[in-house]
Amino acid sequence: METGATAGTAQRIGVPREIFPGEKRVATVPEVVEKLIKLGFKVSVESGAGDLANFSDDTYRAAGAEIIEGAATLWAASDIVFKVRGPSSEEVGLLRQGGTLISFIWPAQNPELMQQLSARQATVLAIDALPRTLSRAQKMDALTSQAGVAGYRAVIEAANAFGRFFNGQITAAGKVAPAKVFIAGAGVAGLAAIGTAASLGAIVRANDTRAEVADQVVSLGGEFVKVDFEEEGGGGGGYAKVMSEGFQQAQRDMYAKQAKEVDVIITTALIPGKPAPKLITAEMVKSMKPGSVIVDMAAEQGGNCELTEPGQAVVKHGVTIVGYTDLVSRLAKQSSTLYASNLFRLTEELCKTKDGVINVNMEDEAIRGLTVTKAGSITWPAPAPKQAAAAPTAAKPAVAAPAAKKGHGHGGGDSEPMAGSKLAIVFGVAAALFWLIGASAPPAFLGHFTVFVLACFVGYMVVWNVKPALHTPLMSVTNAISSIIAIGALVQISPIAGAAGRPNDWISWVAAAGIVLTAINMFGGFAVTQRMLAMFRK
Ligand code: NAI
Repeated sequence: METGATAGTAQRIGVPREIFPGEKRVATVPEVVEKLIKLGFKVSVESGAGDLANFSDDTYRAAGAEIIEGAATLWAASDIVFKVRGPSSEEVGLLRQGGTLISFIWPAQNPELMQQLSARQATVLAIDALPRTLSRAQKMDALTSQAGVAGYRAVIEAANAFGRFFNGQITAAGKVAPAKVFIAGAGVAGLAAIGTAASLGAIVRANDTRAEVADQVVSLGGEFVKVDFEEEGGGGGGYAKVMSEGFQQAQRDMYAKQAKEVDVIITTALIPGKPAPKLITAEMVKSMKPGSVIVDMAAEQGGNCELTEPGQAVVKHGVTIVGYTDLVSRLAKQSSTLYASNLFRLTEELCKTKDGVINVNMEDEAIRGLTVTKAGSITWPAPAPKQAAAAPTAAKPAVAAPAAKKGHGHGGGDSEPMAGSKLAIVFGVAAALFWLIGASAPPAFLGHFTVFVLACFVGYMVVWNVKPALHTPLMSVTNAISSIIAIGALVQISPIAGAAGRPNDWISWVAAAGIVLTAINMFGGFAVTQRMLAMFRK
């Protein structure tokens, strides 16, 4: 069933300028405009819509969009409106009767807006209502893409306010200890923050009420700190619940201990539909080292820290408390690009025929979940999706975490073990080859060949079981070990009888030179290894 335009004619997607104070994002970017046009749509962008995210009108025009002056004209011309923030009452008034809107809506928090949209006979897809646990829906998951950006930016804000390096360093001026970062709440934003802080070289610890995130914390380079109280924190759908008073007390004790030890705290703890849990008390702030930093990502929902002032960075008891509520807008180009891409993926789902006409198919679980009003009737909340929840690990943010690469961890990480029958075949073929070589080659060759095969095996096992982050010190230590050549030189240095029965002087001199050179390699290699390993010691 089509909405908006007459069947067969391409619909026009309109992108207005965001009007919410401080909002710098834009709902589509030039690169996505081209893709939408390929899907058969016409695209209009309000003049200046992308300015704050560094996308000029000209770049949209070059991508094939029409630039329209003024919001009223843009909204009136559009069959489908793409927005970031939910519309204001004025904007709802500009939406065409029976038009389609795709944006954040937060229907539970905005019942009045829902009524206004319904009165407008609108079809509204709330990007925040996506059933996130459907694996097919992940490409459209703007909550995840935006939370990933916010988590990254929170670490950058913390690093900016913190007066020291995040990584440990050994410099000519002395040794610098790495910063200790504690992350409260390891959802999408928290995991992005863990990956970013770890990649900057900090020691990262994290806590969450949902025990299942512990593995994800570790895989991103953090340490999971448990609360000394047994209680399951999952409240369904991958979200948290309000914990018992006993748990909260035990958690406060643990957080108080961490506050004294760490340099930076980043809080991201949220419970859907509830005010943010207060995890960092004024006492804990007081107990932190002067110059420490707290970034409270839950500031907009009341804050995880008692002293947070939403939208501000304040210094209290010598601790900088950052309560910015516009972290995603502080990386507007990045967040807009990801958001635009989420909306494009959604448009693909809505327009499988690629003819520029959307079909809001209520039989499709993902589309059903997103649709909060359909031609004016309120369809929110959607029934829970039938499909089994995807593994939450799939929501891991794409943060570069060198130490987290899979398949290279201790014990070979999580690479698939080879099936017994396959292993037997490999061994059988290897044994047959060995027998063939042994039968035809001279005996000396077989001896060397055995040593060679064993060396390959031992070398492979050693390298495979070392974390990639430690490969550089490993290289330098193997370099030092390769100086075993010194033994050969020592054997040669003893006077060897030359052809005339006299000691062969020149061989001794070459051997002596060899010893000097390998000694540099050997002692230098061990010294460099020690210094490199010192950087990893925390
Ligand atoms: P969120 O922003 O609602 O909450 C952030 C984090 O705070 C959560 O991990 C929550 O457990 C934690 N938290 C709440 N109260 C706490 C407390 N008192 N102490 C410590 N931590 C507390 O959650 P977000 O980031 O939007 O997503 C939460 C989860 O949803 C993800 O971790 C994932 O499991 C699931 N999800 C699954 C997806 C999938 O399966 N495809 C996609 C996206 C999310």
